[in-house]
Amino acid sequence: MKYKKLITASICALTIISCESNTYEEISQTNEIINPTYIAHVKPIITENCISCHSTAGGQRPYLESNDEVKDAILNFGLINQIEAPSGLGMPLRGRMPQTKIDIIKLWSANGYINQ
Ligand code: HEC
Repeated sequence: MKYKKLITASICALTIISCESNTYEEISQTNEIINPTYIAHVKPIITENCISCHSTAGGQRPYLESNDEVKDAILNFGLINQIEAPSGLGMPLRGRMPQTKIDIIKLWSANGYINQ
């Protein structure tokens, strides 16, 4: 795994000048979040981290079961502030999500809530 990364990074550095300061991992993460969509990127994060409570079954508002509901929670219930808060002070209650997941939701919002 380490060798693979090293080789990929070396090839990248040799062929593309702008790759010089990025590791392979950083590049692939950036690629993933250039244009996140609700179906492909946001929904799986919400399903994994929020839906147990924020659904008709969970009973906690705001419900986060559709593109429109998540968008509404961002616009009217401070969802972005909640997920950016220090661990334990925001959402999810059990602790802050990894920054890459937070960034995907922020970028999806900034790009205009693209569905798919
Ligand atoms: C274990 C249950 C649970 C999970 C999981 C959970 N929440 Fe919550 N959430 C709550 C409760 C309870 C409240 C209301 C009390 C509070 O604000 O602390 C709340 C409130 C909120 C609010 C409204 C805050 C306000 O000021 O009105 C938002 C937005 C929110 N959660 C988003 C999320 C998001 C996004 C996730 C997933 C990343 C998530 N929550 C995960 C239980 C949960």
